Amino acid sequence: MKILSGNFLSQIVAIFKRANRQQLEKSQIIAELMKICEESTIQVDLDSKRLKKPSTIDQSIIQKQRQFDPESLDTLNCLLPWSSYNLLEDSMILGSAYTSQKRSAPHSIPDKHINVLQKYCDLRECSAIELGCFEGHYTASLATICKKVYGLDSRIENVIKTLVRCWFLGLEDKVYVDLINLETDNLVNFYQARYQVEKIDLVHHRGVLYHLANPVAHLIDVSKLCNKYLYLHTQYATHEQAATEYESPLGKYKVFAYKEKTINYAPFAGMVPQAIWLQKSDLFRILKQLGLTQIKEISDTQERNGARIELIAAKTGVKLR
Ligand SMILES: C[S@@+](CC[C@H](N)C(=O)[O-])C[C@H]1O[C@@H](n2cnc3c(N)ncnc32)[C@H](O)[C@@H]1O
Repeated sequence: MKILSGNFLSQIVAIFKRANRQQLEKSQIIAELMKICEESTIQVDLDSKRLKKPSTIDQSIIQKQRQFDPESLDTLNCLLPWSSYNLLEDSMILGSAYTSQKRSAPHSIPDKHINVLQKYCDLRECSAIELGCFEGHYTASLATICKKVYGLDSRIENVIKTLVRCWFLGLEDKVYVDLINLETDNLVNFYQARYQVEKIDLVHHRGVLYHLANPVAHLIDVSKLCNKYLYLHTQYATHEQAATEYESPLGKYKVFAYKEKTINYAPFAGMVPQAIWLQKSDLFRILKQLGLTQIKEISDTQERNGARIELIAAKTGVKLR
């Protein structure tokens, strides 16, 4: 099955945005569209074997999924610049893939790492927040168990896609999604002002810390909002990479200065051209300093983009199971 790629769709949105800001004349809009048609892969060919498999939405858990006719689903898949997808019944999908390599496999709802989290804490008793919610797969997965889930992202298209996915899955009563830029907005102030919420039990933090310019200032903010647990999955700097000095609110650290790519259109990029990657030992020390004193390492892997750690940390006095 061939479907428009998220890479192509998100570049189209970037062109339309410039046009609406009066930055492009009609002839330039056409020229820019032609350029991306020539340069990027317009369609992704999704593996038909993969599409013949059962739905990746667990119907024993998701009981109020909305049922769409194929025509409406096709319309929904064109309306938003989707870059990831779920497989539904009869080889239908909600969303798209970013490219043939990136986000080309269907996401499952609930995602299996929710079971891993359940080993450490009772999610049924938790309110949760997902930072950098992208297209809502983890926000929705958390909403299948947690009492209430807040999602946030700095990109309006991701906020909308998350809301739509959660609505499609019938989880909208439990989910609140907001447009927040972690570079500039304060979490504690925002949640207090908007929802009169001072603390959230679980902070779900996956794929975001290594996109930030001031990760320590951000972790301070997170530690104030976090009532019990922090689930953190992030790239970190190896000793060899850590050649830059970073002055943070908790002191100086040797870090890796990471250059963001495709920042102007990629739906999963950071918001600033340069991000700071902490070293693992510093990250652990900072978490402990901020009161997240029990840390369990779930995985530590070497990936294409560098070293990546996955952990769960609990506040002093809170038990990890
Ligand atoms: C690499 S993706 C990770 C998405 C998802 N959490 C996952 O693990 O698949 C990073 C996400 O964080 C968002 N993001 C990046 N910088 C952000 C910022 N400064 N504030 C809020 N969200 C941000 C991006 O828009 C994107 O949705």
